[in-house]
Amino acid sequence: MLMTTKPMFELAYSGGFAVGAFNVNNMEITQGIIEACAAEKSPLILQISKGARKYANMVYLKAIIDAAVKEHPELPIAIHLDHGDTVDLVNTCLKDGFTSVMIDGSHHAYEENIKLTAEAAKAAHAAGVPVEAELGQLGGIEEDVVGLSAEDYAKNMGKFLTDPKQAADFWKRSGCDSLAVAIGTSHGAFKFKHEAKLAFDRVEEIMKTCPGLPLVMHGSSSVPKEFLDLINKYGGNMPNAMGVPEDQIHMAVTKYGVCKVNIDTDLRMALTAKIREVFATKPGEFDPRNYLGPGREAIVGMVKRKLHMLNCAGKAEAVVKQWEKAGKPVPSFYARKCCAPTAAAVA
Ligand code: G3H
Ligand code: 13P
Ligand code: ZN
Repeated sequence: MLMTTKPMFELAYSGGFAVGAFNVNNMEITQGIIEACAAEKSPLILQISKGARKYANMVYLKAIIDAAVKEHPELPIAIHLDHGDTVDLVNTCLKDGFTSVMIDGSHHAYEENIKLTAEAAKAAHAAGVPVEAELGQLGGIEEDVVGLSAEDYAKNMGKFLTDPKQAADFWKRSGCDSLAVAIGTSHGAFKFKHEAKLAFDRVEEIMKTCPGLPLVMHGSSSVPKEFLDLINKYGGNMPNAMGVPEDQIHMAVTKYGVCKVNIDTDLRMALTAKIREVFATKPGEFDPRNYLGPGREAIVGMVKRKLHMLNCAGKAEAVVKQWEKAGKPVPSFYARKCCAPTAAAVA
């Protein structure tokens, strides 16, 4: 069942779980995620980046996701724009039927971030869609944005973490519905040089200054050793890759108000490890089904593992009830042809 992230976060905020937001780029990745969530009876967020839209073509991605929604009407599914950078892109996604959007103005000056987010929130709210914003700067791809080397970024990280007081002001003035916070995570497979450590004190402070605001963790892949080892064993070269330890994510989710956890890198690693294994052990293999199939299976396993880490296995039914309790119409991925206001405007 397609829905916004609102009922998911309403339950997650004080329910000791978070919803996994998994990046989708093709059919196998989508199927792997859906199969795992169906088996674990878990709500889920399928997120689509600007790069995914470009790679797969939205018409194809829409059809794949629509098929998943039809096949699993019992599953609470939100379709989310990941790292939207312009109001135009947000509007396009609203027209495409997304049920959640992110506007990421974190690399702009503070006032500019507020202005951009407020504009995106106005458009999205008119269509009944909640908005995720970002404040503070993550490492990884975002190091390039702040123009620092990974080393200099690490040395100066305190400066880039989300400021709790600023977060309160930002929330009030931007009208966002959830906030991605910088607490030491980063995108990609090379998150830490030495010891992995998240700034939980910041999360605690942000929860005090912004009570009730669902928090989002980007860059939350764990780079599991067995998949890293497989990649390196079968011809890959990812020395010193390191992710966020799963116990730290589990703590962020069960102890603090983290309601959404973004995972892309670990899906890429699962798929890549299995494809590499097939190519290395069966050099004569050239049927894509025989390497994409094991890759898809590995994604199923990876997502199941995440759902337990996020404590959201088994929460599907409660989320559906929460959505229906509010009397929300089920948005159709195809029905919404324009951004005309719907009855489901988020408060
Ligand atoms: O945050 C970035 C996500 O991993 C999406 O990556 O822009 O390469 O699709 P992408
Ligand atoms: P990872 O690179 O850690 O998987 O993070 C993905 C992400 O934050 C997508 O927005
Ligand atoms: Zn991200």
